[in-house]
Amino acid sequence: MELKLYTPHSNQRLIHESTARNRTVVAGRRFGKSALALNEAIALALQVPKQIAWIILPLYRQAKEVYWIDPDITRYFMPYVNAGVCKADKSELSLYFKKTESWVRLKGSDNYDSLRGSGLDFIAWDETDDIKPEAFDVIEPALADSPYHRQLYIGTPKGLGKLHDNALKGDHKKIISDFGKKYTLNSDWETWHYTSCDNMAWPEGSIERTSFVRYIDEKRQEAEEKGKLSWFNQEYMASFERGAGRFFPTWSYATHTIPTRPDSIYSVPIFESMDWGISNPFAWYMHAVVPVTYKGVEFNRIYTFAELYGTGQTPSQWAERIVRHRERYSIPSEMISKIYVDPSMKNIQTDGSQSIVKQFNQSFERLNKREHLFEGGSRNRISRWSSMMDWMRIAPDGKPYWIITQDCPNLIRTIPLQEPDDNNIDDLNTKLEDHGVDSVSYFLPFPKWINAEASAVGRGGEEAPTGGLKEEKDEWDEES
Ligand SMILES: Nc1ncnc2c1ncn2[C@@H]1O[C@H](COP(=O)(O)OP(=O)(O)OP(=O)(O)O)[C@@H](O)[C@H]1O
Ligand SMILES: [Mg+2]
Repeated sequence: MELKLYTPHSNQRLIHESTARNRTVVAGRRFGKSALALNEAIALALQVPKQIAWIILPLYRQAKEVYWIDPDITRYFMPYVNAGVCKADKSELSLYFKKTESWVRLKGSDNYDSLRGSGLDFIAWDETDDIKPEAFDVIEPALADSPYHRQLYIGTPKGLGKLHDNALKGDHKKIISDFGKKYTLNSDWETWHYTSCDNMAWPEGSIERTSFVRYIDEKRQEAEEKGKLSWFNQEYMASFERGAGRFFPTWSYATHTIPTRPDSIYSVPIFESMDWGISNPFAWYMHAVVPVTYKGVEFNRIYTFAELYGTGQTPSQWAERIVRHRERYSIPSEMISKIYVDPSMKNIQTDGSQSIVKQFNQSFERLNKREHLFEGGSRNRISRWSSMMDWMRIAPDGKPYWIITQDCPNLIRTIPLQEPDDNNIDDLNTKLEDHGVDSVSYFLPFPKWINAEASAVGRGGEEAPTGGLKEEKDEWDEES
């Protein structure tokens, strides 16, 4: 192992030197983000008495792999361990600096309980966009009694989530596109943006630098050949890509979202969809299927225009909120044609109690004097995703077949976060936050998607381009 201490490269140095209370670093792969976070924490613990610094990664396992096993990173603290300056505890991934009595601790956002603490002085969030949102909530109380703490958010962009939100707050030089988001600049915040090539650890002209740049060029070429340039731009150029969706490459915030619902939704049937969860988020949406005629071509357009999203509530609590939400959108319950759901919501509970669907219907009956028709979505995941991709395509009038209003912030936030499953590129990685996507995907295969490009040639006159639903169904679980 190379016993060489850290010397920040010129771009890292600018970040270390900033006195902003909250710093956001948006940087491409291999920029030196993790080295930056670790060394900032080490410098604090070495120099200042009684400090507690946390580095939080998306997964505890990652904290171990990235910071504790990878010699590219361990070389930054092992010299201190070997010299007896600090003590490394492998079982709890901590470094204790004897002279200052200060700590550096590694955490995983999947381990919420480990994020309860007090008196924190420094928190670095590594790969911010992959951090579980609950982790930010859990840590807030700990920060309330840590009045002098500083935070560092680092990561490569993935959609328009936390990293983007935080980057905007400190973007005093206006280098980050806001994609129409509302935000307020804050003088406590500072933001940097770097590509992978901005890792200046190796001098210009050195063999290391040349091979690093060549590697990135090869990645660009490969991405271009495979039609995944937006992925390359996201990973290496650290750009908040409009089409950043890794799994849904055609998704684009600018194209697929609009501020609010059009009036046309009030003259067509309305559908709802649900993905059930208590500790995981429950996700509910309202959709309208609006027939469109453009230059003589007829097709359907779906508007997804209302959302409820959250954890910790029962079916009866959600039913009350759904009824209130329908009122807010002036949609009477009679207008709801059907509710498409996770098929397992129809199963009797493991303790023998009523299915979630029955519990919802009892509440709807109590609140509205009417039950709803529930339909289980397909268990064929891959066909659900391919239906979503069809609906994301662009119709002849230049707008997508499926448009989401900005009243659905969690759906809009999580679509670009989806990634392929490591073992099956056609399926989604189920470890990600997929509840909004799951919910809409129970519904989207049902309305008739008419490929209007093809139909412009001759669709035949029989099909009624109304909100009519496809008759053919995958296999469902019938209500048990
Ligand atoms: N100041 C530096 N001096 C020398 N080498 C550095 C420096 N900063 C980073 N490196 C090296 O560059 C490589 C990438 O660093 P690091 O793992 O911190 O990048 P990253 O941006 O976190 O990468 P990833 O996107 O893969 O998580 C590592 O080999 C690291 O040791
Ligand atoms: Mg890293």
